[in-house]
Amino acid sequence: QLPRIYVTRKIPQDGMKILSQSGLCNIEQWDSDEPVPRQELLKKIAGIQGLYCLLTEKIDAEVLDAAGPSLQVVSTMSVGYDHVSLEELKKRGIRLGYTPDVLTEAVAELTVALLLATSRRLLEAVDEAKNGGWGTWKPLWMCGYGLTDSTVGILGLGRIGAAVAARLKPFGVKRFLYADTGPRPEVAVKITAEFVPLDELARHSDFIVVCCALTPETQGFCGNKLFSLMKETAIFINTSRGGVVNQEDLYQALVNGQIAAAGLDVTEPEPLPTDHPLFKLKNCVILPHIASATVTTRNSMAALAASNLLAGLQGKAMGKEVLL
Ligand code: GLV
Ligand code: GLV
Repeated sequence: QLPRIYVTRKIPQDGMKILSQSGLCNIEQWDSDEPVPRQELLKKIAGIQGLYCLLTEKIDAEVLDAAGPSLQVVSTMSVGYDHVSLEELKKRGIRLGYTPDVLTEAVAELTVALLLATSRRLLEAVDEAKNGGWGTWKPLWMCGYGLTDSTVGILGLGRIGAAVAARLKPFGVKRFLYADTGPRPEVAVKITAEFVPLDELARHSDFIVVCCALTPETQGFCGNKLFSLMKETAIFINTSRGGVVNQEDLYQALVNGQIAAAGLDVTEPEPLPTDHPLFKLKNCVILPHIASATVTTRNSMAALAASNLLAGLQGKAMGKEVLL
């Protein structure tokens, strides 16, 4: 009797191929681009051994209870695992796979794109060009802030933060600062980044880029205190999780001119309702959580999540596992 697995979405083909050609499991799947309804998920996972999920599924006690004691492995096709209750997994002895590394470059690239789009006001400018706002060439019009000679502050100098810095360096950034739970000398030395207290980072940075995980410690920590310390010309970029930002405070900071602009690939909630006040601001660029969205990267993530799941089912070491 092969172990049963449940896949919560239509996934990139590299992942599906690994699962279906392995001959190691019976696959059930929510074969749609839309998320599986919660009730459907709870019903379908009863008695499964492996769960292949995405960041859109909250994996909590209710889900784990619905699966029952047969469940051995959860494999999420994401680097973030704030949607998974580690405590509940640990209690039940369930292992967790995730997909770091394979998306670092794609996320770093999109972070740079979002930073440039926000600082050089690309979306505003495109609108002006299309809608008749482009009367003539004007010396003072559509001026933004460039990276040359700037100071960039990175909140969370992990794999992605370091990859962002490496990509920004050729733009002529003068100084990299970073704040984290502690110094990370091995990473910092490669990009010559200085470990500084958060308030110092806020005061000196022209660009702040958030690259940390969402944890109880980082929940809402980008709020009024941070924004009020930032330069009025500074730009705030977040490609990590919406939950690290107090969005009400960010809105106020943007409206009151405490900071110049913000670029967000992540919000809370997702999707952000289309009538949300942040969407009305010209100095806020919002993307629909697409940082890892290259064809190659999504295939790599799907494949890694698939092989993690299979390894877990066989009681072997996973390629990438969250140690609980
Ligand atoms: C995307 O946000 C991920 O966690 O992979
Ligand atoms: C800009 O196009 C310039 O010629 O300065």
